[in-house]
Amino acid sequence: MSPDATDAGGPGEGPVLVVDFGAQYAQLIARRVREAHVYSEIVPHSATAAELMARHPSGIILSGGPKSVNETPAPTIDPAIYDTGVPILGICYGAQLLTQQLGGEVSRTGRGEYGRTPLTLTGRSPLFVDWPEDAEVWMSHGDAITRVPGGFVATASSPDAPVAALHDGERAIYGVQFHPEVVHTERGRDLLERFLYDVCHCPPSWTHTSIIESQVQSVRAQVGSSPVLCALSGGVDSAVAAALVHKAIGDQLTCVYVDTGLMRANESEQVEDTFRRQFHIDLVHVKAADRFFEALSGVTDPETKRKIIGELFIRIFEEVARDLVIEKFTPVGEDGAGGTAEEAAGYLVQGTLYPDVIESGSGSAATIKSHHNVGGLPEDLAFDLVEPLRLLFKDEVRAVGEELGLPHDIVWRQPFPGPGLAVRIVGEVTSERAEILRAADAIVVEEVRRAGLYRDLWQSFAVLPAVRTVGVMGDGRTYAYPIVIRAVSSDDAMTADWARLPYDLLERLSSRIINEVEGVNRVALDITSKPPGTIEWE
Ligand code: XMP
Repeated sequence: MSPDATDAGGPGEGPVLVVDFGAQYAQLIARRVREAHVYSEIVPHSATAAELMARHPSGIILSGGPKSVNETPAPTIDPAIYDTGVPILGICYGAQLLTQQLGGEVSRTGRGEYGRTPLTLTGRSPLFVDWPEDAEVWMSHGDAITRVPGGFVATASSPDAPVAALHDGERAIYGVQFHPEVVHTERGRDLLERFLYDVCHCPPSWTHTSIIESQVQSVRAQVGSSPVLCALSGGVDSAVAAALVHKAIGDQLTCVYVDTGLMRANESEQVEDTFRRQFHIDLVHVKAADRFFEALSGVTDPETKRKIIGELFIRIFEEVARDLVIEKFTPVGEDGAGGTAEEAAGYLVQGTLYPDVIESGSGSAATIKSHHNVGGLPEDLAFDLVEPLRLLFKDEVRAVGEELGLPHDIVWRQPFPGPGLAVRIVGEVTSERAEILRAADAIVVEEVRRAGLYRDLWQSFAVLPAVRTVGVMGDGRTYAYPIVIRAVSSDDAMTADWARLPYDLLERLSSRIINEVEGVNRVALDITSKPPGTIEWE
């Protein structure tokens, strides 16, 4: 199936559109649809039926939402979608909305249902094939459907939802009051698959291999024979984007990796190993630690540090890009001389992901993310962006990375901030203090991995505060830094809970860090959630 579904052909070949009514449900539904190997996209509820039809959808899913359909204003959808013949599934708010728009009744019964709820099947439905008569589903509703629209039948109920499922088979319009996308709904995945495969007739063809194939084609079509640059950070997104683009265009790609001196232990070696030696990618490795430490000398304010690091990174990237542009990229003129950098045009790879595209609201993330360090490139370096991951969720990026043969260590790496260790060094960032933190951090990562917790934790790392404390080692007193261990669980970094690390792991961390890292005589644990704390210390 082509991800660019505007030119989609027969039934089941276009995307499944998930209509967003303003809650987090839409993203989860879109991911579940993709897990069933069907390509899905999120669209705003303000889109008209004609705009939706222009995408040639195979199906439309109306997601849940935070409002009541009886509130004014409540988000709604162009009712013309019900006459298009495209199969529709309404979930929770979506089910209530279609009920109301098609002439049924949604009432405030005063008895909502939240959490696990028993469901009783009361009629036959192609969505409930092989379901037990009693299944457990996840509900979250205050209103309830109390009368189905004309042409519909009710097929399930729960204690406080007289109509927990309904459909009009002729028009292929379905609704469920519960949330099939959450794991607590026992047969939720099954229900979505029945809708996608049996009602929408979508083939399960959106696979990691097909994603790679289609992206390879579209990168080739976009860049032709032009040169392409990619800034590698050591993180997952830029690594997968680089590997994918390299698969598409080989030597046309040059990667630039700037070692700021603020990377994690072995990160630079791993980038070299993976990209130069394993993938044979043309890699420019800029060893710029001295420049960064010099620029950071005497600076203690967190935002000033970030700004200095960001600006220096851009300056260095720009220097490299200019040299490359002049050396390799500029077409040689008739007199044999190369053109200027200003005349040259090239492409810049960026690891933009689908959630960034949705958040930008435009469906097109044309701006370079300021967080990602390559922001603010001078305009005379006329780069167009190549964004091979812009249709993908993070879990898909990781799967594609594995499929492309990237090492597990890179593919499953925890998020790492653009300014690197600097935001974990409170106070002045010096080469010596970065060394202390890097050594302590390496122990944290190693022990957390050994305990089998690395993938479960959102982030786990060491922090170096700007104080020193007294200790006693052997016969003498010491006056050295403490290291703080920070480990959190989270889904999206917006909120986070401090991780309850096992005592034996904490004990190993404490003893190894103090014994192995010179300059440290104490280990503390950060037990602050976000909010009120942030994940990083600066
Ligand atoms: P906080 O500390 O705000 O972090 O709870 C939320 C997430 O963002 C990461 N982070 C950054 N990433 N540049 C980045 O690229 C930054 O300046 C930055 N500050 C925080 C942090 O690691 C966490 O995942």
